[in-house]
Amino acid sequence: MRDYILLYINGEEHRIGGEQAFVPITDYLRYEQGVCGTKVVCAEGDCGACTTLIGRVSGNGIEYKSVNACIQFIFQLDCSHVITVEGLKLNDQLNAVQQSMVDCHGAQCGYCTPGIVVAMCGMYNRTCPVNLETIKEELTGNLCRCTGYESIMRAGLAVDEARLFKADDHYPPAAMVRTFKEHVGIPIQISAGERTFFNPVNVGDAVRFKAEHAGTVIVSGGTDVSVNANKRGMEPAHLMSTSNLPGLTEICVRENVLEVGARVNLRDLELYVKDLIPEFYKMLWIFGSPQIRCAGTLAGNIANASPIGDTLPFLLVMEAEIEVTGTAGTRRINMNNLYTGYKTLALKSDELITRIFIPVPEKSELLKLYKVSKREQLDISSFGAAIRIQRTNTKIVDAKLAYGGIAAVVLRMKKTEEFLKGKEFTLDTFRAAGEVAKSEITPLSDVRGSIDFRFQLAENILLKFFYETADERELACL
Ligand SMILES: Cc1cc2nc3c(=O)[nH]c(=O)nc-3n(C[C@H](O)[C@H](O)[C@H](O)COP(=O)(O)OP(=O)(O)OC[C@H]3O[C@@H](n4cnc5c(N)ncnc54)[C@H](O)[C@@H]3O)c2cc1C
Ligand code: FES
Ligand code: FES
Repeated sequence: MRDYILLYINGEEHRIGGEQAFVPITDYLRYEQGVCGTKVVCAEGDCGACTTLIGRVSGNGIEYKSVNACIQFIFQLDCSHVITVEGLKLNDQLNAVQQSMVDCHGAQCGYCTPGIVVAMCGMYNRTCPVNLETIKEELTGNLCRCTGYESIMRAGLAVDEARLFKADDHYPPAAMVRTFKEHVGIPIQISAGERTFFNPVNVGDAVRFKAEHAGTVIVSGGTDVSVNANKRGMEPAHLMSTSNLPGLTEICVRENVLEVGARVNLRDLELYVKDLIPEFYKMLWIFGSPQIRCAGTLAGNIANASPIGDTLPFLLVMEAEIEVTGTAGTRRINMNNLYTGYKTLALKSDELITRIFIPVPEKSELLKLYKVSKREQLDISSFGAAIRIQRTNTKIVDAKLAYGGIAAVVLRMKKTEEFLKGKEFTLDTFRAAGEVAKSEITPLSDVRGSIDFRFQLAENILLKFFYETADERELACL
């Protein structure tokens, strides 16, 4: 058993135990190490000022992702390499991105600049084509209050490719990978005051710990848990990470069912489903920001049980199943039977989610996923919907609908589904279905939208679906 988290910061090994294991890495960097380039502004994953590169073992190398450090606590970072803005210099000279930011006047007050530099270096560290679109995408999670976006974009495009920061050249991975592999199989338990953190290395130990410690909070990507810690003072007595559980980062398709391990991050999932389930890809592409998707998981989105969780309407209409593991073994729960009330799940106290099974939609089916939010990117939904329909030439054979943001849980729209089945595929049918949909929801007014707005959306989304999926002949008849 270890009583410390092992991580590297800018190539240097750190072993961190006791109280320090329970602080965000940004506090550790700034207050313990005097490494202050990583800024903290919102402390909730929204602005990107704290962006750092976090590398984890992938095969025999280390794969780096841009992540919001303010919502990564030390206990989440075992066996990882954290590269901050200070660690990006090339032999004490600015790297190509940093130099380009200077040359193109990409910084004004400079507060967002370290995060932007790190996010851009992360983008160039991967071997992917970089153009204006990819730079915009990559910087979705980096807000600049001085709004110098034009010059930041120019800087991103004008880099000298000969002087790019390449993590593996700068920090040869072999020794770090060896150390990580020596440590990853050793469980960790750290206690400080009233708090205990456990990092199991097999699922059996994980469920036993959960069974023995009521109220244990599981941390996967931490994008919900850490915000609760930073903003709502959540300090659970028992925390357990899933980071070193084997087999949970696997993603594959078997017999036309997509299997997603509970530790697969949303960014990897997004890339995996790009051609397989394009509608799901589009939904993931507007989920949070790249930094949030690099940390957050599908299992976390499911277990967080928000009535506006963006993946949930899709999982409900696909009749996806989650595999949960507890002391009594493994069982599967259909997503439609998972939520028993606001933020409550049909999980036993010792169980955790280990895998998610999603049937891949047939090419012949009509599937549309919708997210309504004030901004397209990096925003929480006011309303979400998934509509999945099988049709013949003229008729609707089967309909599955789920709406989010209209009740305490994401809801299958059973009455509307029954209404649609067997009806003609016409605008009038979908208009009438909108009336049925309104009768089966109980929305509330909140900062993201009024009751009236949500009733209107429940109706209009069906019309939008019709206009987007009807063929030319049907549209010509209107
Ligand atoms: C800036 C920002 C933007 C966001 N944008 C969006 C968005 O656009 N759409 C959206 O839907 N959400 C959004 N979120 C919420 C969050 O990112 C997602 O819910 C994410 O999927 C959570 O995954 P995670 O791995 O980080 O979960 P964690 O924070 O690790 O955990 C979330 C919950 O799930 C539980 N849990 C985690 N893993 C397991 C498991 N294996 N078994 C059982 N329980 C488990 C935890 O105990 C906790 O209750 C955003 C969050 C932030 C901070
Ligand atoms: S400080 Fe804003 S995302 Fe971390
Ligand atoms: S330069 Fe001031 S916040 Fe971006």
